[in-house]
Amino acid sequence: MQYCSLLLKAGAQTLKESGILNSRLDAEILLSSIAGKDRLELLSKENLKVSSEQAQFYHYLIERRKKREPIAYIIKKKEFFSLPFFINSNSLIPRPETELLVEKILGIYKNKKPYILDVGTGSGCIILSLLYSLPNARGVGLEISKNTIKIAKTNAKKILKSQIFKVKFEHSSIQNFSSEKHFDVIISNPPYIPTYEIKNLSDDVKNFEPKLALDGGKDGLDVIKKVIYKSKYILKSKGLLALEIGNGQYFKVSQILKSNFFRTKYLIKDFKNNIRCIISELNF
Ligand SMILES: C[S@@+](CC[C@H](N)C(=O)[O-])C[C@H]1O[C@@H](n2cnc3c(N)ncnc32)[C@H](O)[C@@H]1O
Repeated sequence: MQYCSLLLKAGAQTLKESGILNSRLDAEILLSSIAGKDRLELLSKENLKVSSEQAQFYHYLIERRKKREPIAYIIKKKEFFSLPFFINSNSLIPRPETELLVEKILGIYKNKKPYILDVGTGSGCIILSLLYSLPNARGVGLEISKNTIKIAKTNAKKILKSQIFKVKFEHSSIQNFSSEKHFDVIISNPPYIPTYEIKNLSDDVKNFEPKLALDGGKDGLDVIKKVIYKSKYILKSKGLLALEIGNGQYFKVSQILKSNFFRTKYLIKDFKNNIRCIISELNF
């Protein structure tokens, strides 16, 4: 048996020496996932111990984190909109800016029953958070990667439980997708990083998160354009298109929207005051 307090100290020190910023927090999260205790319990009980096997496994996880593997992939979990999502390296790790978009859409469709399309559903975090909170909504999660869609389906069972009938997942690219029934709202957090910028991302992101979820082509707008073109035909007239965009893409994206009959209704800024989401209405 080994004391958690000593393991925490050693793990945090190892991570700190390898340049991990939140070394202590990361060590706590890793040990609490192994000990099956929440962080508060881990910290408040001085004499808490884990078995030698658990301690060995903890050192192995610390080594993975040392190599910059994101915590969410190591513990296979990420909270999004206060819901627990299963995550692995086949899906993007849900980000806080995306929660801002979900929050806005929830406000607009509260007490309504929208039919929603989520383009590039990834872990399913957007569509499942919306369907969880909107009792009468239905939706489709569209995803180009077969391995990623498996994660979204796992999360649908976990989050929606007996309400799983509210969601369908389609394995297709947006360009090849068609739907007989038109959507009230299309929401997407597409890959939007210009290819040449991928090499400048942090090691945590560029070495571990799927390229398909990051790479938006030469100017970062390849998939955004495809989503806008297709939305014109599968969205109801006056329906809403809610797009997350990269920092500095607002001007170009708003022009593409305008020339495709979309009128901007709401803009959402991130925590650094950059415009990161555009919600526009189809007038077509
Ligand atoms: C930035 S991730 C977003 C994942 C998730 N919606 C989220 O917000 O965390 C973009 C997702 O779009 C998918 N994707 C990329 N190109 C696509 C396309 N042409 N059609 C449909 N999905 C696509 C990727 O596989 C990836 O899962």
